[in-house]
Amino acid sequence: MLKKLTLLLVGIGMGFAQFTWAAGNPEKGKALYAVCVACHGTDGAGNKALNSPRIAGQEIWYLERQLKNFKTGVRGANSKDVYGMQMRPMAMTLPSDQAIADVAAYVNGLKAKPPVAKIKGDMSAGKAAYMICQTCHGAKGEGNKALNAPKLINQQDWYMVRQLKGFKEGLRGTHPKDVYGMQMRPMSMTLADDEAINNVVSYIVTFK
Ligand code: HEC
Ligand code: HEC
Repeated sequence: MLKKLTLLLVGIGMGFAQFTWAAGNPEKGKALYAVCVACHGTDGAGNKALNSPRIAGQEIWYLERQLKNFKTGVRGANSKDVYGMQMRPMAMTLPSDQAIADVAAYVNGLKAKPPVAKIKGDMSAGKAAYMICQTCHGAKGEGNKALNAPKLINQQDWYMVRQLKGFKEGLRGTHPKDVYGMQMRPMSMTLADDEAINNVVSYIVTFK
């Protein structure tokens, strides 16, 4: 009985594996990732000195969406978006949706050590502020595909601070085709000032 069940589960597991394979080929993605290493690192941990976020282990659907957004200028085309503008030409090195799917599959499989916290804030005030965030990003920052909200676990704190400011200032989430950024933008407005941003991020980094 147990053996049959195990076989069944393995069977289902293989079904999923095949499905992922058809969507994006991580082996091909590895070759494409050679361009990305310079800034995001071989393990995808990101690099504060180069302003590049952690991408290791991020969900495929979110990675694909961001890469397409950068490529088409939905993200990173605003002349005030200094860091997005550095990423945009890199997304342009990916020639097709298949290439984007391949590199996303590879990045999703990368493993990197949790980042070292750099931002200081009032964690309990941050926890209170996170109440509204959890409706989309999940109680532990695990993300929610159905609500298009990315995983926040293990993301670099300084990067999250910058994105929250970017959403507030309209560097992200204002392009008419940025449907998902537009959902996040009003949420960033619930954070009154830089201190409130630091507080919520100092709480998010406690998620494991
Ligand atoms: C020149 C440095 C550089 C290179 C090379 C580079 N990136 Fe980036 N990347 C960045 C920066 C900087 C950001 C942050 C942009 C921002 O702050 O909005 C970024 C952001 C991203 C994001 C968005 C992450 C998020 O959480 O929203 C993804 C995904 C990404 N890069 C993937 C890639 C891939 C895949 C490649 C290779 C094809 C690549 N990057 C090459 C600098 C780089
Ligand atoms: C209504 C749902 C919703 C709520 C509530 C919400 N978010 Fe988001 N958030 C999103 C979506 C959707 C995105 C992805 C936008 C995109 O695709 O560019 C996002 C993106 C982000 C990002 C950027 C992640 C990255 O890798 O670049 C951060 C950081 C973030 N949210 C933090 C928060 C915080 C903090 C709160 C609470 C103050 C919050 N969110 C509330 C939907 C939400």
